[in-house]
Amino acid sequence: MNAVDVVLWVVLPYVALTVFVLGHVWRWRTDQFGWTTHTTQLLESRWLRLGAPLFHLGLLLAIGGHAIGLLVPKAWTEALGVSEHTYHIVALGGGVLAAVLVVSGLVLLLARRLVNGRVRRTTTRMDKVLYLVLSAVIAFGTGGTVGRNLLGCGYDYRETIAVWFRGIFWFHPEPRLMVDVPLVFQLHALSALVLFGLWPFTRLVHVWSVPVAYLWRPYVLYRHRRPRLSASARPGAVGDGRRGA
Ligand code: HEM
Repeated sequence: MNAVDVVLWVVLPYVALTVFVLGHVWRWRTDQFGWTTHTTQLLESRWLRLGAPLFHLGLLLAIGGHAIGLLVPKAWTEALGVSEHTYHIVALGGGVLAAVLVVSGLVLLLARRLVNGRVRRTTTRMDKVLYLVLSAVIAFGTGGTVGRNLLGCGYDYRETIAVWFRGIFWFHPEPRLMVDVPLVFQLHALSALVLFGLWPFTRLVHVWSVPVAYLWRPYVLYRHRRPRLSASARPGAVGDGRRGA
């Protein structure tokens, strides 16, 4: 282990997480009107209707998988009687499904931005940086799951990456655990850290404003500003008191 390893696996995570937290505070205090998805649904909705649910459904599945794979220690699942083999099959099934959904959704969303002139023109420089980093995170994650764990010789990330990841939050990071991790997983984790650092300055802030209250709030009722005139009171109607021409 050398100084570069310490920078990559200790300094970078803390810098990224500090920028993540303080960046959100700054954004909330200075730009609440910009705290939105900046949706382009009005410009194009056909591709979006398919790409957005595929992408978000896949990501939800991947987030669930990350929560179990990275946050739950291997000893706990073993204590619950989940064998390594069973864990591997479930993680691989869910992971591959998540990867297929996320990648197909992302390809549709990216193609829509490139092909549709109106959507392309609303794409800011920051959006482009975000799409690039997000694509890298997803490509390396999928490379690890599909390339290494499905088609390759497999890799037990719960012994290394997961322990390193949890150590960051206990303020006891162990960079040595990441040194011999396969490159594709190293690049996945590093690009994810860059994404966390960028997050508060992009449209990704909309993630914290999911309108879940829509599920139980009362219906919105639209009413005419002026009370509607009854049929007999409309101008020109028989008996409205006015003379016809
Ligand atoms: C430092 C943070 C992260 C770490 C340590 C990490 C680690 C991993 C690992 C170990 C896998 C392989 C899982 C398996 O084969 O079962 C994986 C896959 C994946 N990751 Fe991450 N990841 C991180 C952040 C992210 C983020 C922020 C995203 C999305 C924006 C993401 C998206 C994916 C996807 C799409 C896959 C493939 C599907 C899956 O297996 O769930 N990851 N990641």
